[in-house]
This record gives sequence, structure tokens and C-alpha cells, in this order.
Amino acid sequence: MILRDRRIIIGITGGIAAYKVAELVRLLKKEGMEVQVVMTEAATRFVTPLTFEVLSGRPVLCDQFAATGGPAHIELSDWADLVLIAPATANTIGKLASGIADNLLTTMVMASRGPVVVAPAMNHRMYENPMVRENIKRISGLGYVFVGPEEGELACGWSGRGRLVEPPCMLEAIKDVLTPKDLKDERLLVTAGPTREPIDPVRFISNRSSGRMGYELAKEGRRRGAEVVLITGPTHLKQPYGVTTVRVWSAEEMHNAVTSYFPQSTIVVMASAVADYRPKTIHTEKMKKKDASLTLELERTVDILYELGRSRAGKLLVGFALETEDLIENTKKKLKEKNLDLIVANTPASMDSEVSSVTLVDRDLNTQTIEECTKEELAGRIFSRIVELKKLAG
Ligand code: CTP
Repeated sequence: MILRDRRIIIGITGGIAAYKVAELVRLLKKEGMEVQVVMTEAATRFVTPLTFEVLSGRPVLCDQFAATGGPAHIELSDWADLVLIAPATANTIGKLASGIADNLLTTMVMASRGPVVVAPAMNHRMYENPMVRENIKRISGLGYVFVGPEEGELACGWSGRGRLVEPPCMLEAIKDVLTPKDLKDERLLVTAGPTREPIDPVRFISNRSSGRMGYELAKEGRRRGAEVVLITGPTHLKQPYGVTTVRVWSAEEMHNAVTSYFPQSTIVVMASAVADYRPKTIHTEKMKKKDASLTLELERTVDILYELGRSRAGKLLVGFALETEDLIENTKKKLKEKNLDLIVANTPASMDSEVSSVTLVDRDLNTQTIEECTKEELAGRIFSRIVELKKLAG
């Protein structure tokens, strides 16, 4: 868990979207973060400090001159790993851009040495104001990280760009700034999900893969600074932020998409459950049932990873092995046959689950068992191993 025991200051300024931050505080606490909320006087008019006090488990700080036994703004900025300002009004953004520190939040940001993430929220006409644009440009240039605003319905009844991004998006931005960029120069190709092999216009053969593992790998790769392409079979998952996502259906489409992105990739992780067989004939009309039993003739699909392993020059190749028996022996065999650098051995229990326990086997047949953890955590562990292997390869 990237965020466990990390410390964040959330600076809330005076906007109606302040209520959304309550949900963010809840999400951050769930991730194991320590959260200190600082509110401007205007913010307290929109949501009461008590709400954030209860959710964060810490008293909310508002008053710059409250007696704390020391300079609160310095203590606070030393304490935190990062600061998030959400919602950030045009007024506070303007103060930050002009070096004005006239309340606890702005003095604390000025004293801060860690990353500052800004999530603006305002009326779209204010957001389009050249002064606001200029202020955003100025502090972006100084290293402040902006997330949103997004387009949509605004509290004032208008519609346009100016809406505070949703809590999961702020959560992702926080994870992003706290993740070391050890894959900065890499171009990562990840495959995810099942494939569907059509029988007729309404039926197909598929499997239980949820796609979660591949999506978590794509997200983690991007957080670590890689340029990421995700090729995904059908899933219900949301397209990961900042990832080029290519949606495919069948093994053949996945094969074509992988082949077109493979040459420019430096790391390839195939986490998809690609069908090994497909119906030899696809019926153009819906098949009618008959009294007799039915036999479908299946033909082989291409083993995509095997093919990549034959033309891999200089790329790091990672596969998954799903086994129901002789897990490690069969996995080692697949690693050799497919000419991989690393393979992740798992069982069907991982398939449509939130958690997974796996064994990593590298090209020298070293094994590393990872006890049950979330797929997000597992994605982090897999990339840490990939980074080690990259270093070994020089
Ligand atoms: N794979 C692939 N193309 C296929 C089948 C699998 O690229 N047609 C990839 C998977 O994405 C995975 C690895 O090969 O990374 C191993 O997949 P798995 O289903 O465990 O094994 P198979 O190679 O299909 O072998 P078997 O079904 O006989 O266990």
C-alpha cells in the first residue's frame, strides 16, 4: 500500500465542492494515511470542521494564531509528506501565484518543501479568466501538480469546465505524486482481461478473468512514470487515467493490437487470459437448438506471448501462468518455452477476486512467494521485481 502511514495535509478553501472532500478523507483513512485537515475561514461556511474532525480523527486547524506552543505552519509542513488543496478557489490559487500568505493554509504551503497538489473548483467563467489561467500556468511551472477541474454541471447551475474532480481521481493523483518514478523512460505494454471467441451473433466462449490484475499493473506502471498502453479484453473496469487503452474482443484482435504496439515497447506484461481455442466456424445467424447433442469444432489461436518471446530483442517480457496442478513446475516450463524474464504463477482463485497470492519465478528460476494481498499491492511488488531485473540486465 503506497499510502499506508504516509501523512497528508488537506487544505480546504471556500467552495461548495468542499463536501466532496469528506469522501476523499474517508478513502485516504481506508488506505492507512494520516490526514490533517486545514480549512480557511470561508471553507468553514460550507462544511463544518466537525465533519472532517470525525472522519480524519484529528482536530481541524483553521486559525493561524491559535496557541499551539510553536509556529503551526512550520510544524505542519515538516510533518506532512504532501499537501493537497481541494477545492482550490481562484482566490487561493491567486494568492499562491503571488506569494501571498495571509492564513494558516497559505503560510503552511509557503513553508512546505514537499509536493503540493491543487484540485481547482470554480465557475467556468472564472476558470477561463486570463488572470486565473496565468496564475495556474505560473504555479504549474513552479512544480505544483494540478488535477482537474473537469467538465460538467456546476453548482451555480451552469455547465462547463470548473468542477472539482471526483474523490477517486484525487486519490489517484496523491498516489501518483508519492510513487518514485523508477520506470520513467520505459514504454510499457500491458494486456488484461479475458477474450471472447464468437460462436454466433449472441454466443461466445470466454473465461472468468476480471481484468483487475492487468488494470492495476497499467495504473502502477503509469504512477512509476512509464508511458503505458493497455490492451484489454471486455471488462467492466473504468479506463485507467493517463493510460492509452485499446479495447479488443477476441484473441485474434488482441494478437493484432499487441503486434502493432510491441515494436515500440520496452517492457511487456501479458496478464490477459487469452483463449487457446476458438470455434472453427462462426455462424452468421443465431444457432437454433435441436434435439440431438451438439459438437463444436475448435481450432487453436495464436500463442501471443510465445510469438513475442521469439522476437523480443532487448525487451523485458513478463507472463502469467494459471495452473490447477504442479504450479511451480508447470510455471517454470512456461517461462522457458515462452522465453520470458519473469512469470507470475497463480491459481484460478485469483481470477475474479480482489486479492491474489502468487509466486514470481525469474529467468534464473529464482522463486519468490507473495502472500495474499490486494492486486494493487501485488502490481507494486511485480514492478519492484521488474526494476531489479532491469538493473541486473544493466
Ligand atoms: N497467452 C498468450 N496467448 C495465448 C494464451 C496465453 O499470450 N493464446 C499468455 C497469457 O497472457 C499468459 C501466458 O501466456 O501470460 C500463460 O497463459 P496460460 O493460460 O497460463 O497458459 P497457456 O500458455 O495458455 O498454456 P495452458 O493453457 O496449456 O496451461
